[in-house]
Amino acid sequence: MYLSEMQPGPKTVPPRNVSSKELDLLSQIVEKRLGMDLNRRRQERLLQMLEKRVKESGRKDLMDYLNFVDFSPDHPEWRYLEEILTIQKTEFFRESSQMTYLQEEILPEIKAKKSSQNQRKIRIWSCGCSTGEEAYSLSILIHEIFQPLSEWDIKILASDVHRQALETARKGLYPEDSLKTVKDDWMKRYFQENHSDSENVYFVADILKQIIHFRPINLMDKRYPVKTLFDIILCRNLLIYMTALSQEQIIGRFRSLLEPGGYLLLGHSEYLPDRRDFQRNKFNVFQTPLN
Ligand SMILES: C[S@@+](CC[C@H](N)C(=O)[O-])C[C@H]1O[C@@H](n2cnc3c(N)ncnc32)[C@H](O)[C@@H]1O
Repeated sequence: MYLSEMQPGPKTVPPRNVSSKELDLLSQIVEKRLGMDLNRRRQERLLQMLEKRVKESGRKDLMDYLNFVDFSPDHPEWRYLEEILTIQKTEFFRESSQMTYLQEEILPEIKAKKSSQNQRKIRIWSCGCSTGEEAYSLSILIHEIFQPLSEWDIKILASDVHRQALETARKGLYPEDSLKTVKDDWMKRYFQENHSDSENVYFVADILKQIIHFRPINLMDKRYPVKTLFDIILCRNLLIYMTALSQEQIIGRFRSLLEPGGYLLLGHSEYLPDRRDFQRNKFNVFQTPLN
C-alpha cells in the first residue's frame, strides 16, 4: 500500500444480483479510468446507482453496460459514471491546521523568497478541487497575504475530473451553511449575499475568481495539460481512494511539476512512505529539495 495510513475498505463481496465477473470488470474499468481502488468504496450504494445507469442507458444488464463503457472511452455516458464513482465531499478551509500552516508559514516564506529573487510569478494547483471550496479558500489567503496583488503574477489552477462539480465551482454560489468555516471578516470582504434567492446563499467576490482557472483534468491521464512548474500542489483527499500503482504514478508526475523547494499538500490521512526525496514538514506538507 502506498499511502500507508489508509484503512482498507471492506473486502469486495459481490451482492446477490452482481456476479464476481461483473465486479472484476468494474474494478478494472474504474482503475484504468480513475485510478480508483474499488475496495476503498462502499459498494452497495455504488452498485445501486450503476443499476440505475444500466436501465437509463438501455443496456441489457451490468455486464453489457460495463463492456459498452469500456470500449467507448469518449461516450457521454462516462460523465454519469465519473459522477457516480467519485466522492465530492469538501469544505472551505478544510483541514484547518494545514490551511493555517499555509497561511502563516508557507505562503509568507514563498513571498519572502520570491521577493528576494525579484520574482513575481507564483503558480498553485488545486487538483481534485471538487465544487471549488478549496480553490476559493486559497484565493482568500492569497488576497490576504500578497498585497497589493497587482504587483504579483499569481494564478491558481483548479481542476477535477467531475465536470458538474466544476460548473458549481465556476458559479461560486454557496449556501450559508457551507460557509461556517469562513471567518466573519473574510465573509464581509469576499462574499456577497444573493438577495434574489429565497435560501441564504452567497456569491464569492469576483476578485477571488479572477486568479483561478477551473478546468477538467483527469489525474490518470499520462500527460497533464499544464505548461508551468508549480510552487504548491494541493492533492487532498483524493489519492486515498486510489490503487497503490495509480498513487505512485501521480506522485511521480507531481514531483516533476514542482519547482525546487515546491510544496505538495496531501489530506490528513494520506502519507507518503516512499518519499522520492520529498522532505516532510508539518501537517502532511511535503517539500521538494531546493536544487
Ligand atoms: C473528496 S473530494 C476532495 C476535494 C478537496 N480536495 C478537499 O480535500 O476537500 C475528491 C475529488 O477528487 C476528484 N477526483 C477523483 N478522481 C480523480 C481523478 N482521477 N482525476 C481528477 N480528479 C479526481 C473527485 O471528482 C472529487 O471532486
